[in-house]
Amino acid sequence: MTYGTLYGVGVGPGASDLLTLRALNVLRRTGVLALPRSSDYGTSKAWQIIKPVLGSVLNQERLFLTFPMKKDPEQLRPAWDKAFNAIGERLERGLDVAFATEGDPSLFSTFIYLKQEAPRRWPGVVIEVVPGVSSITAVPAVTGIPLADGQERIAIVPGTYGLKDLERLLQEFDTVVLMKLGAEIPNIVEALDHMGLLDRAVYVSKATMAEQRIVRNLRLVQAERGDCFAMVIVSRKEHSGLLAGAVPLRGEA
Ligand SMILES: C[S@@+](CC[C@H](N)C(=O)[O-])C[C@H]1O[C@@H](n2cnc3c(N)ncnc32)[C@H](O)[C@@H]1O
Repeated sequence: MTYGTLYGVGVGPGASDLLTLRALNVLRRTGVLALPRSSDYGTSKAWQIIKPVLGSVLNQERLFLTFPMKKDPEQLRPAWDKAFNAIGERLERGLDVAFATEGDPSLFSTFIYLKQEAPRRWPGVVIEVVPGVSSITAVPAVTGIPLADGQERIAIVPGTYGLKDLERLLQEFDTVVLMKLGAEIPNIVEALDHMGLLDRAVYVSKATMAEQRIVRNLRLVQAERGDCFAMVIVSRKEHSGLLAGAVPLRGEA
């Protein structure tokens, strides 16, 4: 069987003008836009990002798919199966499907599971990944604090999966990017306070979106449950600076 092409398209962190040209081209030429949302009644963040810049595309289907925000695979499986079946029906008809993901499709994205599952369900299907601007680079852009330079090392940590080793990570890495905060903010504040690093942390929610919020005193957000688009970045900045003389400056031999 000849299937349509399956695209995983990163649509960036929130601001519509951070969509790449390649993403926009793919989104405009595919017959089906698959748009993930977390509940049957909720909105799709990817669609909110795309809608203002997509323009009118003739005969394009907008296929809203529900992926509940739960961790239990038994609860997830039926919903994911339904969504993947809906995509499969279109691919089997030879339609190209663009699965839009917030940020980049290769980082904590449902598309990763779809990409793994696709060859089993639709043997030989062509899959293309269109990278997007990730929240990991959008957040430093809005705080003005670089992610890493020189000898600095970065850890990327999903908070809701446990932070028992946070103090070790903070010792080992110069920059720690804490994503998926859930109810972990009090634990993060406690660990940072214990290590004297509270003033090296910044909380950002909805970077580049209209509701963007930057909080440099984490105690102010301590009582909050991190919203779905919130991140804490801790930057020690003890190894930053020029590469210890390894890069000759102009005029130096
Ligand atoms: C399921 S992951 C998706 C990451 C996405 N694929 C990316 O490349 O940024 C969701 C997490 O990404 C982070 N995130 C995504 N967009 C964000 C934004 N605009 N501002 C701050 N954090 C964001 C938050 O930590 C959130 O809990």
